[in-house]
Amino acid sequence: MTHAVVTGAASGIGRAVAEHFTQAGAQLTLVDVDADRLAAVADALGARHHVVDLCDTDGPAAAVGDSWRTHGPVDVLVNAAGIYPSLDMIDVTAAGWDRVFALNTRAPVLATAELVRLAAAAGRPASVVNISSGAALRARPGGGPYAASKAALEMATRAAALEFGPLGIRVNAVSPGFVAVDSVCNPVADAYATAVSGNPLGRPGTPADIARAVLWIAGPEASWVTGEILRVDGGSSAGAAHLPRLWPPDAPAADRTGTRAADTDTSTTTDIATGAGASGSAAAFPAPLHHTPGTLPNSTKGPTT
Ligand SMILES: NC(=O)c1ccc[n+]([C@@H]2O[C@H](COP(=O)([O-])OP(=O)(O)OC[C@H]3O[C@@H](n4cnc5c(N)ncnc54)[C@H](O)[C@@H]3O)[C@@H](O)[C@H]2O)c1
Repeated sequence: MTHAVVTGAASGIGRAVAEHFTQAGAQLTLVDVDADRLAAVADALGARHHVVDLCDTDGPAAAVGDSWRTHGPVDVLVNAAGIYPSLDMIDVTAAGWDRVFALNTRAPVLATAELVRLAAAAGRPASVVNISSGAALRARPGGGPYAASKAALEMATRAAALEFGPLGIRVNAVSPGFVAVDSVCNPVADAYATAVSGNPLGRPGTPADIARAVLWIAGPEASWVTGEILRVDGGSSAGAAHLPRLWPPDAPAADRTGTRAADTDTSTTTDIATGAGASGSAAAFPAPLHHTPGTLPNSTKGPTT
């Protein structure tokens, strides 16, 4: 039976991960600093738990080491504990920056290192999943330290995957888009939640959406996946959906060739079906496709992107 250690399991995404692993038949050791909430979740799931402050320098290794020695070899480690305070870059203090990095970046790295030492000594494979964030790719006001901590976590994930792959230990990350968790330690204003809730799939994400992805990438179905950052965000990171089109959809359509504005020289005319220029060779500057296949902006008015 799989033994999974889940940090940050007292709340939100970590709790959902713990629930999904339990439903999948795993033995759980849950870790968090919030003793009361952790005990309640552990009771509900019939899981063991360790109260650990993962910001302590020895906390992460102790969490994994104690779990291994007390409850048996650890197969899966999910590093979900995290904080995302609102902290403007001009207000950053050494202590504030260090705390964000201690929990969001250092703790997953140290916990993983301890698991790798124990697993390697025992000749066992293992799988680690770090919980990153869309913030790793995109800064926002007040989110600088958090975004930086998650960007660092993503690179640490890749570096660990490279080094530990030969030991049979996979290291991946799941990067959630915003999901409401009603957190005590990570409060989010309604205005922010509303502003970030849009995504191409058109519905809010849930902790369960994230947990299913963690369960998959941690498990045997993903046995040839390592160093991957799996974005689970309804498509939010796919692009800038809020931007207008380059050229209005209702602009008059030209013929089915894409002629760059101010181009009257037929040698620069591009066939949009083949990409070939009038001379028969591939165009150096392919014409931009209009959003409706086969239509292009009026070539005499269009921008010269
Ligand atoms: N909710 C989101 O929209 C979202 C989006 C992207 C990424 N994330 C990430 O998901 C993870 C879980 O966040 P969440 O949204 O479920 O928040 P949450 O506040 O519900 O859960 C965080 C957990 O971490 C625990 N924790 C805090 N400090 C700790 C410490 N020093 N030692 C041990 N445990 C500690 C808290 O007690 C809590 O149980 C975090 O890493 C977060 O960055 C969340």
